[in-house]
Amino acid sequence: MRVTLDRLTKRFGTFTALHALSLTIEPGEFLVLLGPSGCGKTTALRMVAGLETVSEGAIQIGERDVTEVLPKYRDIAMVFQSYALYPHKTVAENIGYPLKLRRVPDPDRDQAVRQVAEQVRLDQLLDRYPRQLSGGQRQRVALARAIVRRPTVFLMDEPLSNLDAKLRVHMRAELKHMQHELGITTVYVTHDQVEAMTLAHRVAVLNNGRLQQLGTPREIYGDPANLFVAGFVGSPPMSFVDGALQSGRFVAPGADLAVGGSFDVRDAVLGIRAEDCQVVPRGAGKVRATVYSHELIGDHTLVMCQIGADSDASHTIAVKMDKAFEAEFGAEIDIDMAPAGLFIFDKKDGSRVRLPSA
Ligand SMILES: Nc1ncnc2c1ncn2[C@@H]1O[C@H](COP(=O)(O)OP(=O)(O)O)[C@@H](O)[C@H]1O
Ligand SMILES: [Mg+2]
Repeated sequence: MRVTLDRLTKRFGTFTALHALSLTIEPGEFLVLLGPSGCGKTTALRMVAGLETVSEGAIQIGERDVTEVLPKYRDIAMVFQSYALYPHKTVAENIGYPLKLRRVPDPDRDQAVRQVAEQVRLDQLLDRYPRQLSGGQRQRVALARAIVRRPTVFLMDEPLSNLDAKLRVHMRAELKHMQHELGITTVYVTHDQVEAMTLAHRVAVLNNGRLQQLGTPREIYGDPANLFVAGFVGSPPMSFVDGALQSGRFVAPGADLAVGGSFDVRDAVLGIRAEDCQVVPRGAGKVRATVYSHELIGDHTLVMCQIGADSDASHTIAVKMDKAFEAEFGAEIDIDMAPAGLFIFDKKDGSRVRLPSA
């Protein structure tokens, strides 16, 4: 079912937590709301669920305006970070509870529970109690309980953040697979950009209650709308250098790069990702730098390079090199940057300055 948010706004007293968020989530889509803590993600989700009143704007599910509709009549299931299971009920009883509340007859309920349990691979554990389960299994019970009644919309608020790193990666794959199988329209909230990039069909990036960009993970990563999105998405984060645009060049201490075009923006920020840089011998690149630090990550080496070290405006640029790369601290090197990897932002408001080549 399609979910439409139309200028959805939430005010708490004089504070506006969400500013006129407009967004259409297509039937079967996995949409991720991504942003730092406090940017309004949970507030937006709770409004869709009907747990929070709407200050302005409207919510539609399918053709139906649900802005004023009680939560239980919205046909939505929500999974939270802290998924409370009933400790004295078995896995089967936990999963079947929403159906029991709806007075679904026992045989139908048993069948639905078994079917869902199979989908999330809990069918061998139906007689256990929550205390006899691992964290990941408990989380799967919570998911099963949410999907057992086939909601038209699935809302999830950081459902994996209580799990350890390894389990989180595993559950991420499970979730993605399950959402694909069920085809239920899903809105998923997270502050974790890796989670957003790996799960979403499309990502909506929020900051300070405002939508920054809406796009596929590829668009968000490769074509960020502004400085905030560019810096928030990607690991390691995009490196930034403060400088100026002067007749088709970006100039900063240690850097002088042709970027083409003629812009009226003067104070600018250059952004570049680690994989679009190379450490090359001094004199062979366009940016003078020294090796500040390096880390062998496993399949690659991350080299932190300092530019403009002898000025009062030094910057660090992360460079991704082969795992065999070795460098000395303080080595004088150059950084080569792929022209297609250069991003320029207006220092005033962080907006993207489109380069003629891009
Ligand atoms: N009931 C409330 N009363 C007042 N302020 C609130 C309330 N709920 C949330 N806020 C504020 O709204 C902002 C967004 O909160 P929230 O949606 O929980 O952020 P997120 O989920 O992105 O971390 C925060 O600044 C938070 O303090
Ligand atoms: Mg939250």
